[in-house]
Amino acid sequence: MNQLLKKYPEEVNRILSRYPVDRKQSAVMPLLHLAQGEAGFVSRAAMQEIAEIAGVSTTEVASVVGFYTLFHDAPEGKIRLQVCTDVACDLRGATEYLTGLCAQLGVKPGETSEDSLITIEEVKCLAACDKAPLFQAQIGDEVEYHENQTPARTVDWLRSMSAAINGTPLKTVTPEEAKPEEGGSHE
Ligand code: FES
Repeated sequence: MNQLLKKYPEEVNRILSRYPVDRKQSAVMPLLHLAQGEAGFVSRAAMQEIAEIAGVSTTEVASVVGFYTLFHDAPEGKIRLQVCTDVACDLRGATEYLTGLCAQLGVKPGETSEDSLITIEEVKCLAACDKAPLFQAQIGDEVEYHENQTPARTVDWLRSMSAAINGTPLKTVTPEEAKPEEGGSHE
């Protein structure tokens, strides 16, 4: 039994009703949004169910998930913080910004903080190339864009988010704590 259809029959039928019967594949994106709302990411099983409903292959659904930065195929932090380091942003210091931010948070791009609050990801063009360094943050269904950032500004924002979401102070590392890892010598 298709679990997505079983759990959300009205929503699925409402989504399908927006498109001609021979254009069911257009429903893939709203169906992905529906599935992601359930678990915070789209599992392989959910992709198969969406493929079944929309009459496309699971690979086609997976390629949509892979293309769009707002869809995810694995559970991650409560805040998915995505930094564009594409050429235009890089010329405005995006890579340096990302490196500085990661150093303060003690995580690398692609990693999630120990308290599961933040996942940092490196992405390509977020359509605000002249406002770099910038990040897009996805918190559940909400998406925020923060432009003209410095690591310090972003850490300030994350402190307030940590208090609001986790009710705890943000975990950061000092430059002194970060140095042993950078040098690769722990002992
Ligand atoms: S290149 Fe970074 S937002 Fe466009």
